[in-house]
Amino acid sequence: MNAPVASVVVRAYAKLNLCLRVGGLREDGYHELQTVFSRLSLHDEVMAEPADGLVLRLSGRYAEGLLADESNLAYRAAELLADHVGISPDAALTVRKTIPVAAGLAGGSADAAATLIACNRLWQLNVSGQVLEALGAKLGSDVPFCVRGGIAVATGRGEQLESVAAEGQFHWVLVPSAEQLSTPAVYAELARLRRGSGETTPPADIAAVVAALLSGKPRRLAGVVTNDLEVAAVSLRPELDLLLAAGRDVGALAALVCGSGPTCAFLARDAAHAVELIGRLGVALAGSGVETGSPIPVASGCYL
Ligand code: C5P
Repeated sequence: MNAPVASVVVRAYAKLNLCLRVGGLREDGYHELQTVFSRLSLHDEVMAEPADGLVLRLSGRYAEGLLADESNLAYRAAELLADHVGISPDAALTVRKTIPVAAGLAGGSADAAATLIACNRLWQLNVSGQVLEALGAKLGSDVPFCVRGGIAVATGRGEQLESVAAEGQFHWVLVPSAEQLSTPAVYAELARLRRGSGETTPPADIAAVVAALLSGKPRRLAGVVTNDLEVAAVSLRPELDLLLAAGRDVGALAALVCGSGPTCAFLARDAAHAVELIGRLGVALAGSGVETGSPIPVASGCYL
């Protein structure tokens, strides 16, 4: 019998889709995806401690307005893992929210993934990473990647993963929006726009994105980042177009909406350039009427 574990702290990392192609609607209501996920340095923190029963507390700058009840993905993750192994979900979970909420950064999915990992350790279950990913897929399409981390090519509804061993990091500035966007609303808007235009997009050039990642060259990566959901997010929030254009004008190598948005990501040459971009964006946006949250410098990369 192992000694009981006192408490476990696991980081819950945000993600960025470096390319995101949305294919057809499936019978289960999800869309076929082709994407390349990369973990970001920005993270929440999940602490799991022994308790009788399951309790969830939320703290941190983005905790306000979030429900700490059984609708929360972290709570559901603990229940799901306990149910999987046939024990009661005895844990006090504390999630410190640093990732903007409903922002296209998979913050809720990251919390769920980190909770699976934290409870696996707290309860000394030794459930494999593969099984945790499969459990994660029941909670949301991004959760398996959040369990695995690093960089991965994803297909299916986003849950079928193939890791990419690209070394090195890329530096970005994230600009959160003052308001949230609902992921289903963005997918529905894309469907509406596509019905109107009859347009679909060609398959993603995943090989080009992987080659750019392996090269470690930000300029090369800048040439291949894409996001099919961007047009839908911009349609719902036209001011995002101004923000993306402002980023390009002040020297970002690339500007894209993160996942379903509304956070925008600006690719920098290096960490110093990211700090420079933040200053220049502040000047460019002053008086423009575009309301944003504070820009966040982040790194993306394999070993995060
Ligand atoms: O999987 P998850 O619960 O995170 O997905 C949230 C919503 O995003 C889904 O309800 C669906 O509207 C949309 N979605 C989709 N196709 C995917 C992933 C998500 O349509 N592959």
